[in-house]
Amino acid sequence: MSNRHFDWFKKHETEDEVQHKLQRLYGLACDRLAMKPDSGFIAAAMAANPEEARRDPVRRLAHHLFTYKLAMPTGAWGLLGLGLLHSVLLEVAREDGKKPAPVRIPRTEAHDLNGLASRLLLPDVDQKDVRRAAAFVEYLLQSKGPRGFIKFGRKMGANGNVDAASLAVAGISAGALELKWQDAIRAGTPERGPTHLLAWVAKAAARHKLLLFWFLLANAVQILYAVYVPLWLQALFDEGIKPSNVAVIRTYLAYLTWGFLAASFFGVILDYTVAKLGPRILNDLRARMFAKINNMDARELASSDTDEIIADFSNDITVVEKAVIWAVPGLFSKGLMLIGSVVVAFSLDTQLAIATLVSLLIAFWLPRGFSKRAVRYNYERGAEDAKVAHVVKETLLMQRVIRIFGLRELQAKLFTGQLGRLFKASYHQYFSSGLVGRMTSFGVSAAQLLVIGLGAMQSVEGEVSSGTIVAFITLLLTIGGAAGFIGAQLPLLIQGVGGLERVQALLGKPDAAPDPERPESIGGKVNSLRFDEVSFSYDGSAPTLDKVSLTIECPRRVMVVGPSGSGKSTILRLIENQFSPGSGHVRVNGVDMRLLGEEQVRSLISLVPQETILFQTSVRENIRMGKLDASDAEVEAAAKAADIHPIIMSLPDGYDTDVGEGGSKLSGGQRQRIAIARAILHDPQIMLLDEATSALDPASRVAVEETLRKVTQGRTVVAVTHDLTQCEQADLVYVVKAGRVVESGTHQSLLDADGVYADLWQRSVIAGAEGAVPREQLLDRLRKRPLLQGVPAEFLERLLARMTVETVGPDTVLIEDGQPANRLIFITQGEAQQSVRLPDGTFMSVEVLEAGDALGENAALENAEEFTRVVTRKPCHLLTIDHATLRGLLAAHPEIEQRIVSTFTPRYEAMMKHYAWLKLQVPTL
Ligand SMILES: Nc1ncnc2c1ncn2[C@@H]1O[C@H](COP(=O)(O)OP(=O)(O)OP(=O)(O)O)[C@@H](O)[C@H]1O
Ligand SMILES: [Mg+2]
Repeated sequence: MSNRHFDWFKKHETEDEVQHKLQRLYGLACDRLAMKPDSGFIAAAMAANPEEARRDPVRRLAHHLFTYKLAMPTGAWGLLGLGLLHSVLLEVAREDGKKPAPVRIPRTEAHDLNGLASRLLLPDVDQKDVRRAAAFVEYLLQSKGPRGFIKFGRKMGANGNVDAASLAVAGISAGALELKWQDAIRAGTPERGPTHLLAWVAKAAARHKLLLFWFLLANAVQILYAVYVPLWLQALFDEGIKPSNVAVIRTYLAYLTWGFLAASFFGVILDYTVAKLGPRILNDLRARMFAKINNMDARELASSDTDEIIADFSNDITVVEKAVIWAVPGLFSKGLMLIGSVVVAFSLDTQLAIATLVSLLIAFWLPRGFSKRAVRYNYERGAEDAKVAHVVKETLLMQRVIRIFGLRELQAKLFTGQLGRLFKASYHQYFSSGLVGRMTSFGVSAAQLLVIGLGAMQSVEGEVSSGTIVAFITLLLTIGGAAGFIGAQLPLLIQGVGGLERVQALLGKPDAAPDPERPESIGGKVNSLRFDEVSFSYDGSAPTLDKVSLTIECPRRVMVVGPSGSGKSTILRLIENQFSPGSGHVRVNGVDMRLLGEEQVRSLISLVPQETILFQTSVRENIRMGKLDASDAEVEAAAKAADIHPIIMSLPDGYDTDVGEGGSKLSGGQRQRIAIARAILHDPQIMLLDEATSALDPASRVAVEETLRKVTQGRTVVAVTHDLTQCEQADLVYVVKAGRVVESGTHQSLLDADGVYADLWQRSVIAGAEGAVPREQLLDRLRKRPLLQGVPAEFLERLLARMTVETVGPDTVLIEDGQPANRLIFITQGEAQQSVRLPDGTFMSVEVLEAGDALGENAALENAEEFTRVVTRKPCHLLTIDHATLRGLLAAHPEIEQRIVSTFTPRYEAMMKHYAWLKLQVPTL
């Protein structure tokens, strides 16, 4: 792994330099694990397997350090060893001697630890996996320390299983550990206080000037009334009641009455403005959020969690709404009222006023630290809500799988676990928010008590008039009421801040690049589509496409083939201009796609995806999405061309039939045809097909392919497919492997070249054994298996006739180490893991077998045994023949038997020796 990705171990380096660097790497790894390095360790490690040491010294080091020195089972060194060394290598590569930045991966990649660990044991590891491992290692070291890390490794299974390790070290299941890991990645939860929300609302309200004016005016009236009442009461007592002056009494009673009426009237105005202003502000926010998801950079959107976005629209907006409608206006009014009251207090009596002011300041200062923490708890609670929604959504979507595999209990357990976390988060949220409110009202009550006591003492000493005391008591009632209200509203405000933070995190995501101001025109007809050295990466690290160049003269039928994950769909996404290349150009008629503008690109290109999800509306409207101004007649013509008109007519409401959620009332083939009709209506010059028929059964596949062939006449088609038989009619085939174009040409020229394509052809045709593939081709593929090379066609026919097609679920043992070889198996679809049994009874994985691979070839021999165990990792389709039938068949053809036995026996013996040696290599732990 290291050689390819770090310049650190360049090939031309001398042996000494490599040794020196290994030593440094080893030293740093020991540092991280808090152990003392042994002298001579590197030499011993390299000597233990010189071949591996030469090929990949870092891998050798990881292997030796973890299995020998740390005494971990063989399953651990991949995940933990390569992860640790990768992380250390990054530290070295930075060469700045400072604290290394942690390995950053997107949260969505923090899962599937078991798969990751077992893949990292294979000879050819994916760099992305190594990065993930490094991120996990850093998380594990940080959360559990070096001791926890080593314990984790020692508890890992020989196949890289982490379930027991997770239980032993963290006391939780591996799945729960993955969730914790994800939480840790959600770095930098906010720590903002409530003023953040107040400032935001003020800015948002400023856009609605008229409403804001009435809101402020109504508030001013309320506050003036609240402030003047004590003053009027003071005058009423001191100047009216005490000297028995009726005129003065009347005047102040009139003030009080009119003031009360005005305050009540403007109270209604206030309610009206809040009721209008609040929802306006929120709808502005919703509109911005919606625009954001439509305009977001496609790459960013692809890595976003949809459930979180949905939760932003439901839960988060709701708490922001409550804060905006209830808490913010209340806090504003009551806050000003408090300030006004304090000012009045000063005009009445300085000493009492100071006492009031100081105690109020304490009351609001007290819970400051707490409220920030409360905001954080509220933020976290929002995340837990999203996860609950996620489990519910997944359970609804996956009902079929859940029922078939009896996963109800597992799901229920998952949900209960999530509820536990939600409970904890909600409890923290409510308790901390409540506490903030309570601390405030506690402080205010204490202030009231203090001031009343002080005032009473002063009045006894005759320092203040009775009118002043009445005024102060009224003032204190206002202050108490206002402060109590603020205390009660603070929790709502705090919840609102958490919600707003989450919404703003969404709004802060980058938008797609804007359209060019004056888009270039390609001038009508597309003559060429080119990729010039296009590189692209989803996450900015390892490239998904690496200097891909394609030249397509139009119109042409072009196929893009290659193994799963090689970047085929990504190529289509770049043609669609969904993503832009990191470097290089995608050009139409020589013009870079980015200069064409959204509208022109959309008019040129249409896509039929692997599985079509429809909008929940009528069939007609779904087809019309291809061209919004199409007439009904045009829609029907497109449906006829897509061979779906008769089917639509047989639906209960014909073209007006509702297709159900996502199109669930139609079959997969029908949905594909609707997608085709939509694409035809759009009438694009370039049609992209991303495995458009692969989700269909063989019969509909053939029919839909026929339709596609018909409707794509005269257009440029770029089709991604796993079914290589389609390439025979293509003008050009591009073969993609690990993000690079490795071969191109016609089907026949590629077969003649006998390279990657020829190999894929061999595998894929066997993979299609369930009927879609002509027998001739299948026979041809059988002939190419090493075991059957040079065997006459008639024999292969007989062999094929006796083979049975079988489907097995995951985790099925296909062959068992040490058992008699009694079955020859071809995997035609799926994936299986081959391992050898170690002396301690555990298994070490050696290879992953895929479609096209054969196993149990030993069954062709008499009395052979298996040296390995093969267990399916996914559901598999198999083509099998048992030992007795195979031997019977061979017995009838002695010359073939002779041939097979003589060529295969030496191989069998060599394999026997190899595996015996392999088993000895691994010490008993
Ligand atoms: N949204 C995404 N975010 C991050 N990585 C992605 C994303 N989509 C694809 N990838 C990665 O990019 C690589 C290429 O993916 P792509 O979908 O192009 O493969 P493909 O050749 O179409 O495979 P398949 O035949 O399985 O459809 C894969 O390693 C995949 O993990
Ligand atoms: Mg794909």
